[in-house]
Amino acid sequence: MRTQVGIVGAGPAGLLLSHLLQRAGIESVVLEARTREYVEHRVRAGVLEQGTVDVLTETGVADRLHREGMVHRGLELRFGGRGHRIALSELAGGRAITVYGQQEVVKDLIAARLAAGGELRFEAGAEAIEGLDGDRPVVRLASGEEVRCAVVAGCDGFHGVSRGAVPDEALTVYERVYPFAWLGILARAAPSSEELIYTHHDRGFALHSMRSPEVTRLYLQVAPDEEVEAWPDERIWEELQTRMATADGGFLLNEGEIFEKGIAPMRSFVAEPMRHGRLFLAGDAAHIVPATGAKGLNLAVADVRVLARGLRAFFERGDEQELDAYSERCLRRVWRVQHFSWWMTQMLHRLDVHDPFEARLQRSQLEYVVRSEAAARTLAENYVGLELEDV
Ligand code: FAD
Ligand code: DHB
Repeated sequence: MRTQVGIVGAGPAGLLLSHLLQRAGIESVVLEARTREYVEHRVRAGVLEQGTVDVLTETGVADRLHREGMVHRGLELRFGGRGHRIALSELAGGRAITVYGQQEVVKDLIAARLAAGGELRFEAGAEAIEGLDGDRPVVRLASGEEVRCAVVAGCDGFHGVSRGAVPDEALTVYERVYPFAWLGILARAAPSSEELIYTHHDRGFALHSMRSPEVTRLYLQVAPDEEVEAWPDERIWEELQTRMATADGGFLLNEGEIFEKGIAPMRSFVAEPMRHGRLFLAGDAAHIVPATGAKGLNLAVADVRVLARGLRAFFERGDEQELDAYSERCLRRVWRVQHFSWWMTQMLHRLDVHDPFEARLQRSQLEYVVRSEAAARTLAENYVGLELEDV
């Protein structure tokens, strides 16, 4: 099989890239290890930056997003039993975020690709990527089949094969693994607040988010090696109620049937550069951020936007300048987002309980963010997302 761009992975990065390429008249094949059913139901992110919504809107895949997504203009930071609103839009030039499940974005992109006659191959996992130093790389599938292309886009997430196809000596890796994980649930319960609530509590972090007027998304900080089995529903509700309670007793957390439960590790990771010969890494394949900043999906979108532009210059005019600048351009945003995600994470989680000095610094920082407009603006500007690159 031959194509112009072989895209490994049908997550948000791979699917959006193939959509952008098709609009530019460039042919691609998306190779995905899992089934369509699986990728459409994998529950993950929910916060879309303004820039992400803009890209999906401009390229015609946001009709349902605008019908069902929930626009948020503020969020709450809760600590010491009190809530403090950060007025995101007021502080960040009118920009807002939209809460819309990642798997809904994935469904919308798959539908758009199939309607346009795009080639998506499920249960077609890549086993190896070869010939990256030449101009005819090959993606070898587990079935033994080969896909020959001019360029390979490695969009196969953190555990994919693409990054591993780059020789170790050609990559510099930066990494931090945090001593906690998130237990995430979906519950059939109306959201208990109109906005997201990021809670810092002595027992650990808790987050209130949502998916619809009937479904609440909630997260709890848990031990890094925690098993889901250790968290029966009653224990989850009890812990959420304790961590999210306000001192005045005024906050009521709605409970309901829990129909999804999962544990996600917290990690910061960057592999540089994001290119090796004819292979371009995008999204989680190249970098991971801890979920506290709600950035992973948004970074994946920003990467493929820059990559699509480079590929267009390459295929239309044989101009490689944009592709040469791909990694550096993306990494500027990646590192800003790395810092923001690390900052939110260390500010909001329960850190080493044996270090009271750190605990006092953490509390001071939280108080500063809610008291100082300058500090709140820093949070707001990063949270709604920096302007997208000029492409
Ligand atoms: P992925 O979504 O991981 O997609 C990679 C795809 O490649 C997968 O479909 C996988 O099956 C496939 N694949 C793997 N190996 C192979 C192979 N060998 N061959 C073929 N296919 C392969 N981000 C946000 O922006 N906002 C949030 O609010 C947010 N919250 C999160 C909450 C949780 C609990 C988690 C876990 C993540 C969250 N994230 C959030 C991060 C976000 O989900 C990821 O950053 C995003 O999925 C990255 O997209 P991707 O396309 O790069 O990778
Ligand atoms: C959600 C996930 C996040 O990581 C976050 O910071 C905020 C919201 C969510 O899934 O809704």
